[in-house]
Amino acid sequence: MQKKIIVAGIGPGGEEFITPAALKKIRAAKFLVGGRRALSEFANPAQVTCAITRDLNTPINFIRDNLPQDDIVVMVSGDPGYFSLLDLLRKKFPPEIIEVIPSISAIQLAFAKIALPWHNATLLSFHGRQPKRSDLQFVEGKILGMLTDTEFNSATISKILLDCGWARDSIITVCARLSYPDEKIFTQTLSTAADSEPVANCVLIVRNPETI
Ligand SMILES: C[S@@+](CC[C@H](N)C(=O)[O-])C[C@H]1O[C@@H](n2cnc3c(N)ncnc32)[C@H](O)[C@@H]1O
Repeated sequence: MQKKIIVAGIGPGGEEFITPAALKKIRAAKFLVGGRRALSEFANPAQVTCAITRDLNTPINFIRDNLPQDDIVVMVSGDPGYFSLLDLLRKKFPPEIIEVIPSISAIQLAFAKIALPWHNATLLSFHGRQPKRSDLQFVEGKILGMLTDTEFNSATISKILLDCGWARDSIITVCARLSYPDEKIFTQTLSTAADSEPVANCVLIVRNPETI
């Protein structure tokens, strides 16, 4: 029988946000792939593991080599459908052999934390990429939800948005380490954030002061 690549979302990080469906597959896996943090949290000594690092050829080769023997479970942070290794896996393997277990994205949890619906939000990622300038441009009533990295952080992105026509008193909520014990969520104006200590690898939500 054709073995599967099971891409399991593990949520934003805190243990209470992983789904029982993902946990079941991760625990039952013979071959387990994931970031070092996820492996140290979930892998057991009986499992054959492979860490996801900058060199993405290593997990791809690990999957290719071991897939004839058994299913491979690949753990990704947040939801697999939202900026994860799933993109690359679909390029390297036929989609028919990929099974996805959805989970809670960091972006979902960030909007939940400020009780703001995200159905009208423009969701963008600065994680290892740059959104199109036109997507960042200010439009009355626009709500932006953004992933960040170390280079594009709360300060650099605030400066870019000021440059894209957002008012200095626009509201930015910085959501860092969501679901972890040291979670940090705070709101300031865009001009203050532009001049403040940068916060990296967080979620940013930006809107008009009129949007509560
Ligand atoms: C490669 S993306 C992965 C997104 C993931 N697939 C998701 O659905 O949340 C990594 C980025 O997600 C955001 N992120 C992931 N976990 C987070 C957390 N616990 N708190 C805040 N932001 C987080 C950060 O912007 C981080 O740089």
